[in-house]
Amino acid sequence: MELPRLIAHRGLSHHAPENTLAAIRATHEAGLNWLELDVQCLGDGTPVLWHDAHVVRCSDGQGLLRDYSLAQAKRLDVGRWFDERFAGERMATLEEALALISELGLGLNLELKLSAGHDDNLLAETVVPQAVAMLPRERLLISSFSVATLSRVRELDGNCALGILYEDGPTRGWVTDAEQVEAFSIHSNWQSLDPARAEEIRDRGRRLICYTVNDPRRFHRWWSHGVDTVITDRPELFDGDDFAPSA
Ligand code: G3P
Ligand code: MG
Repeated sequence: MELPRLIAHRGLSHHAPENTLAAIRATHEAGLNWLELDVQCLGDGTPVLWHDAHVVRCSDGQGLLRDYSLAQAKRLDVGRWFDERFAGERMATLEEALALISELGLGLNLELKLSAGHDDNLLAETVVPQAVAMLPRERLLISSFSVATLSRVRELDGNCALGILYEDGPTRGWVTDAEQVEAFSIHSNWQSLDPARAEEIRDRGRRLICYTVNDPRRFHRWWSHGVDTVITDRPELFDGDDFAPSA
């Protein structure tokens, strides 16, 4: 799988409301060819693009996402909180998002977002067959903070590319985790990464992806420690060198 240097975080989320069809279109319009999105299930089991457990921050609604049916979720305005220009934007189902991503020819890093109170296995079992059916394998990377959930994904699909997320930097046990799920990539909060661990990941042949990098100047030295790709809200801040595709 060929990954670009830059992946748009939650879609082009500095320019459009995160995890929406508008953010997917904005990614394409900005000339990027990969994006990261978060997915979780509504109460009726429909997978939708959403980051938080609650709907308050990114909609005009109240309460927990898991208490919404699709019909109720579709009544929420998920654009106005970001900017009046996006008023009327509706919550995107995974199916709608995959159709648009496929049409635009983008690559997708789909993060299985495991909010408390949700069924993690149900999320994997619902999302993975849909995603692999709608996107070619070279344009789909599924990630999660949960090795257990990724193991379930691996059982469901022996071939799709998987990435393990580490909020506090990859732990000493990352090699075991990676072997267990046959991980393609290791995704680290860049502020928690150390150079030796970064180089170890590179030397052991896994791709290294850092999130969420919005300060290219401070980040720049990390490229030489083996980082392949960054997930960013601000791709426009990276210069030409940083756009060069990874080998
Ligand atoms: O997948 C990288 C990044 O999105 C993980 O953090 O909270 O933005 O989903 P978060
Ligand atoms: Mg995410």
